[in-house]
Amino acid sequence: MSCVHVDVASHPSVVNAAKETFTIAKVDVLVNSAGITGPNTKLWDYPVDAWKQVFDINVHGLFHCCREISLHMKANNYGRIVNIASVAGKEGNPNASAYSASKAAVIGITKSLGKELADTGVRVNCVTPAAVKTSMFDQMTPEHIQFMLSKIPMGRFGTTDEVAAMITWLSTEECSFSTGAVFDLSGGRSTY
Ligand SMILES: NC(=O)c1ccc[n+]([C@@H]2O[C@H](COP(=O)([O-])OP(=O)(O)OC[C@H]3O[C@@H](n4cnc5c(N)ncnc54)[C@H](O)[C@@H]3O)[C@@H](O)[C@H]2O)c1
Repeated sequence: MSCVHVDVASHPSVVNAAKETFTIAKVDVLVNSAGITGPNTKLWDYPVDAWKQVFDINVHGLFHCCREISLHMKANNYGRIVNIASVAGKEGNPNASAYSASKAAVIGITKSLGKELADTGVRVNCVTPAAVKTSMFDQMTPEHIQFMLSKIPMGRFGTTDEVAAMITWLSTEECSFSTGAVFDLSGGRSTY
């Protein structure tokens, strides 16, 4: 198995990684998962540089990857793109305005690109997980983690296996009549 390092926030880095990858194989599946939370603080206290960094990675990074890979998939008339958004992008979590706004942008990009590619063999969808215990928790305050848990009717965090199972299905040929769609993974928190 080959791996290519990439900094998604850097467009040249994504262009290079895409070029290198195309020499190894055709790309059928793109999962845009790179992301950071940014600080947990009120919007009026939000450090401007931290806000920009959240957008550089969560939004511009995802845009760079979609931009470089979608044309390749379109040329092959086949592809599955799965963007990892968040329930925060639907609901807007307090003390996480940059993250929430960035994930709302991911939902918007998914809907636009899904429609732009709907007459091809490329499908573009996103998932909106609620809290899942990963190393991302290290970036959040304990109060914020508790707030997210309190919002989940099932009363527990999601698991990485549950998220992976949905992403896996969205990456298959069977996912053929869904595009530009938002798939919930929130233990009942968001029902739309
Ligand atoms: N864990 C949760 O509760 C949760 C909930 C909803 C959505 N999400 C989303 O799921 C995705 C995966 O997060 P996770 O929970 O696995 O956290 P994680 O911190 O384990 O994974 C994030 C990954 O992004 C990578 N990354 C960060 N900046 C990057 C950059 N500039 N270029 C390339 N890679 C970069 C990191 O190296 C890391 O491997 C993120 O988009 C996150 O916003 C997570």
